[in-house]
Amino acid sequence: MILNFGSLNADLVFSVPHFVRPGETLASDGVALHAGGKGANQSIALARAGAKTAHAGKIGPDGAWMKSRLDQEGVDTRHVLVDDRVLSGQAIIQVNPQGENCILLSAGANGAITRGEIDGILSNYGRHDLLVLQNEISETAHLIEAARARGMVVVFNAAPCTPAVKSYPLSLLSLLVVNETEGADLTGETGVQAILDAAAKLWPETALLLTLGGEGAWFAHRQSRIHQGVFPAKVVDTTAAGDTFLGFFLAAWSGGASPQEALKRAALAASITVSRPGAADSIPTAREVDDVLRTLLPG
Ligand code: RIB
Repeated sequence: MILNFGSLNADLVFSVPHFVRPGETLASDGVALHAGGKGANQSIALARAGAKTAHAGKIGPDGAWMKSRLDQEGVDTRHVLVDDRVLSGQAIIQVNPQGENCILLSAGANGAITRGEIDGILSNYGRHDLLVLQNEISETAHLIEAARARGMVVVFNAAPCTPAVKSYPLSLLSLLVVNETEGADLTGETGVQAILDAAAKLWPETALLLTLGGEGAWFAHRQSRIHQGVFPAKVVDTTAAGDTFLGFFLAAWSGGASPQEALKRAALAASITVSRPGAADSIPTAREVDDVLRTLLPG
């Protein structure tokens, strides 16, 4: 079982001619409300990729619709807690005509998860289970330590990368997932090869998945390094592309696929996500990915 302990956000997505500037009042070209949060997006990507997935997290009294969204995807939501004292997490997202985004977060209930709640939920899991984390909820360092103490495999996507991440027990991870900026922040190095080298020295037992947007992604573990390029796509909205990539990579990798195969499926799934608007709603199914993969086979 894959347990994703992560954020649930209400994403209010504005289509804008450009990102709003300091002091500017800008009329948007449209607005839509979507279920999002890196955690929930990754659970939907995992489920759509075919992995048996449970989501743990916290919403406020306003968040039942986000939990239902995960239910509709076949995600086990029995560990999504409701806290009546806080509002659910929220994100204000601007998307420009190039499909780029910028995101403003309010942690809300995601930031009110306690150690006691974590320990209670983790007591249902053990060494046959994989824990996926992002950096949008409280007590992430405790989660890593407590899950490892139970023998779980732990995967951490260090996004968004705050200064506190450097103090997390990253050497306990099986896989650390970063983009280039996050990788540079955590290793103190710049440039892909320098980041990969530094990560291998800092956390020798931890594999690194370094995502580079239009430049593809690297998977590195000990001496092994694998690069995957992107599949061409007409970019409409890049929101949740990273979440799709990770969900599809983990579903394949944890199911026994080689890193090469898992990277390829992940890259293809992400190329479909960027061609559609929205976060969770833009994530493809395994079947869509399989259909495109078949068209790529020689002969
Ligand atoms: O990765 C995209 C997600 O980041 C959005 O859905 C938003 O909620 C933020 O968590």
